[in-house]
Amino acid sequence: MTRHFLNLSDLGRDGLIATLDRADRLKAQRGTTNERPLAGKSVALVFEKASTRTRLSLEVAVAELGGHPIVITSQGSQLGRGEPLKDTARVLTRMVHAVTLRTSDESRILEVMEYSTVPVLNALTDQSHPMQLLADLQTVRAHFGKLEGLTYAWIGDGNNMASSWIEAAGLLGLHLRLACPEGYDPDERFWNEARERGARLELVRSAAEAAQGAHVVSTDVFTSMGQEEESATRLRAFEGFRVDRALLQRAAKDAVVLHCLPAHRGEEIEEEVLEGPQSIVWDQAEARLHTAKAVLLWALGMDG
Ligand code: CP
Ligand code: NVA
Repeated sequence: MTRHFLNLSDLGRDGLIATLDRADRLKAQRGTTNERPLAGKSVALVFEKASTRTRLSLEVAVAELGGHPIVITSQGSQLGRGEPLKDTARVLTRMVHAVTLRTSDESRILEVMEYSTVPVLNALTDQSHPMQLLADLQTVRAHFGKLEGLTYAWIGDGNNMASSWIEAAGLLGLHLRLACPEGYDPDERFWNEARERGARLELVRSAAEAAQGAHVVSTDVFTSMGQEEESATRLRAFEGFRVDRALLQRAAKDAVVLHCLPAHRGEEIEEEVLEGPQSIVWDQAEARLHTAKAVLLWALGMDG
């Protein structure tokens, strides 16, 4: 059966841990091995939204694994001129060995999956960003040596990143506290699933309450891609949800700060925090490469 990666649950708990373990090995081995598991394989990296890290990490990952990455953007392809996604999907599937897609609504990636006989991987939708979570988990585990037994705080929008954090909490049984302003709550679908799996989830309205004693403090932009028209309203709604030095004082002494980037300094995160000693955002960005390799190999059935 084709292994699609829509969300972390496609890996399952054991698969998620195995993927992180593999990403650690790939990190350690980088530049020291001649293994080229993707030799002779092409991977299409399709972007209907902007990207820096996701594009870079996937393109470098495929190249370092010995495969051929092909970046297709809406603007530079017939997608931008209205060619139906299902037609694009059927052409891709006849030529490449895997497809990654960054798009808006999840229904679009589900459509590509329906028409694809090769693995399709979610490189961000409006609903989730599981590839980023792989990197976040690898980064936290490298820092603390563990994932369990920590308190995780999410400050800000109950957006695609929040949903993937909630999903990770469900799969791994994590304690996650989210502070979201009213009207910006996380997706109930992910919330209920994670609860059923045994995550310890709390939703609060105060950033201070969520940050209290937390070991990992994560945030993301207040206005995600595609929400630009709501930007002014959102800026008002998210007042008090900035990760700043005062907020970080409430967290555990050894707390770290995550941000998937791009960051808007002075909005969701203070410059001094982003650039400060507790920020591990550059390790987090680098982890996108190692985890991209690991999840691509999983999708292609190259377990190991
Ligand atoms: N974090 C992340 O997905 O970054 P890009 O939008 O630059 O790919
Ligand atoms: N929530 C952000 C994440 C960017 C990587 C967005 O969807 O724009």
